[in-house]
Amino acid sequence: MKVELREVTRDNWLACVRLKVAESQTRWVASNAVSLAQSKYEPECVPLAAYDGEAMVGFAMYRPEDYGLSKVWFIDRLMVGQDVQRKGYGRAIMTALLERLRAQPGFAAIMISFVPDNEAARRLYSSLGFEDTGVIEEGEIVFRLAL
Ligand SMILES: CC(C)(COP(=O)(O)OP(=O)(O)OC[C@H]1O[C@@H](n2cnc3c(N)ncnc32)[C@H](O)[C@@H]1OP(=O)(O)O)[C@@H](O)C(=O)NCCC(=O)NCCS
Repeated sequence: MKVELREVTRDNWLACVRLKVAESQTRWVASNAVSLAQSKYEPECVPLAAYDGEAMVGFAMYRPEDYGLSKVWFIDRLMVGQDVQRKGYGRAIMTALLERLRAQPGFAAIMISFVPDNEAARRLYSSLGFEDTGVIEEGEIVFRLAL
């Protein structure tokens, strides 16, 4: 499974807003509408739409952050459309994102956080090498992948 990460533009932002998780998952991730608004007012946030061919299947957003004395990446958002989950897209998006972030020098780690009962997120991030920092931020478990 491979996905292409594309910029969110004038042509695809609405499709991105329309891409949703299941109702039961809405407490685990902000809506794409909120993420896109956030990226307008917090321009260090980089929103990306994930495509399988011409079909948008998911969304992610990351930003650089000063963390203690080092610079890290923070992956703020990851979601896969409710109708196409469990087909490998979530893993493919994370793999493409990690490849992109690893290619940029000067960063100590990639951080990601999730609500404690989000077992899918925990399993996915653990399988990619992320480790629990023991830190809880705003009720979310913070995982770290050293670069
Ligand atoms: C988390 C999410 C992005 C995973 O995307 P996905 O395309 O369904 O995941 P994949 O098919 O690539 O599966 C990757 C791994 O995630 C885990 N996983 C995915 N769905 C799972 C579920 N329902 N239960 C348990 N583990 C699950 C598994 O470990 C899986 O690996 P495996 O197939 O080798 O067992 C997706 O479930 C989602 O959008 N959830 C709602 C939003 C969310 O929680 N985002 C994360 C916020 S931190």
